[in-house]
Amino acid sequence: MAADTFQKLSERAELCAAELRTADSVHLVSHIDADGITAGAIMCLSFERAGIDYTAEFVKKLDEKIMARLLEENHELLIFTDLGSAMTDFMVDNGMKAIIADHHQPNGRPENIAADSTAFPYHMNPHLFGANGGFEISGSGVSYILANALGDNKDLAGLAIVGAIGDMQNRKYGKLVGLNKEILEQGVAAGVLKNAPDLSLFGKQTRPIYKMLQYSSEPYLPGLTGDEEACIRFLQNAGVGYDQREGAKLWIELSQEERVGVISALMKFCQDRGFPAHRVEELIRECYTLLSEKEGSEMRDASEFSTLLNATGRYDKAEIGVRVCMGDRDEALSEARTLLSEHRKNLVNGLNFVKENGMIQLESIQYFYSGEEIKETIVGIIAGMATSIDGVDRKKPIIGMADSEDGIKISSRGTQDLIRRGLNLSKAMSEVTEMVGGAGGGHDIAAGGTVPPERAVEFIDLLDKYIGAQLNEKK
Ligand code: C5P
Ligand code: C5P
Ligand code: C5P
Ligand code: ZN
Repeated sequence: MAADTFQKLSERAELCAAELRTADSVHLVSHIDADGITAGAIMCLSFERAGIDYTAEFVKKLDEKIMARLLEENHELLIFTDLGSAMTDFMVDNGMKAIIADHHQPNGRPENIAADSTAFPYHMNPHLFGANGGFEISGSGVSYILANALGDNKDLAGLAIVGAIGDMQNRKYGKLVGLNKEILEQGVAAGVLKNAPDLSLFGKQTRPIYKMLQYSSEPYLPGLTGDEEACIRFLQNAGVGYDQREGAKLWIELSQEERVGVISALMKFCQDRGFPAHRVEELIRECYTLLSEKEGSEMRDASEFSTLLNATGRYDKAEIGVRVCMGDRDEALSEARTLLSEHRKNLVNGLNFVKENGMIQLESIQYFYSGEEIKETIVGIIAGMATSIDGVDRKKPIIGMADSEDGIKISSRGTQDLIRRGLNLSKAMSEVTEMVGGAGGGHDIAAGGTVPPERAVEFIDLLDKYIGAQLNEKK
């Protein structure tokens, strides 16, 4: 199935590549998150290799205002990566010459989103070929397929996987599946990627082990998460990873035997505290290593790399992230690292804000409103991480709200369990924002939007009822 869809997307890619090769210059528009940045970097690298002139920009979201500006700029050929699939009608109605390499739910008149259309926009999207863009392939993956129609660019599979991990596409099955797995296998064959089970906690390349434990939110480790001393004590008791003389060690500095030792001790610790078995199992998961990157650098680990990129794009510095993806290990990397430490502080502060102010419980949803306390570009990450907070109900989706220039930014996050029960946040977000004069979209498990401030209260009320109906329909 995946191989078949891969083939169909590759055929679409040939059509798009032919247009790209004959254009004098191309303007790329991509999204500011890790997936959008890697998608953009993959295309920029493949343009350079193929001798195609290009310019690039990164945007928070694609709305009619930006589309109107792009139209005005009169580009010969546009390419949209990790966004664009919801703008097909605008493109057709305005005669825009565009290529779309996206994985979000397509939107538009049926003829404008037909899988076999041979008119502009040339549209590459897994949803058009029966694959799910929420977990089978991300924007960077679709771009990778396109890049490989322009030349042999299999060495960019690492970036494609970083984008998929940035969008958390490994969540559903605990590992990458479908088209993502095909890309992974190409990367392994090209010698740029390795996949192997390892400790699932964040920071294996760059953080002392006790910090990995202290900041673990997935899974949340009662008795360790948030408690630095307890984490150090735990390692001292286990006799690995924290040594009076040698100090704190990184995960990558441990031998295989020592790693097994820590994992066993951790599992026992959790079991002794009555941790459910499925949560204990979450301590191990398939991990992805970029073999051409230096050991001990963020770029070596797909999860750390994606966080480094989010730390640039979500603060209006996507170009820095792109430069890192394209190989700059000097100025751009050092600036990205500075941004990363700010990003971490903002995530901690944001989570503390939610902890202190609490989550407001409605019938079928729970929400928090942060005003200007949480930046609108990271309120979604906070909403996703908030599941680890005490008092948050695992049985309702989380809605985060923050002030933004265009109104109130909404971010919503669900769980696989809720999706099985009928939740579709993409549908809820696009329809309910529209009812109050806003706009939105995304995936079944994670979606966002913007609503006019004066109608935010009404929006929340409508959303609660709408999601209640989704969950009740399946009962
Ligand atoms: O950025 P969209 O542009 O595709 O981003 C997808 C978002 O969905 C990510 O921010 C990620 O946090 C979220 N997600 C999630 N749980 C999943 C899959 C994706 O929270 N299982
Ligand atoms: O590793 P994972 O993809 O689950 O991380 C999800 C998000 O949470 C990342 O964007 C990262 O910024 C953040 N994170 C973190 N510190 C952790 C775990 C996650 O900053 N210990
Ligand atoms: O912004 P946030 O992280 O909450 O976005 C979650 C998902 O919803 C992302 O895939 C994003 O691209 C999508 N989204 C959208 N339209 C918006 C806002 C977010 O499609 N207006
Ligand atoms: Zn994406």
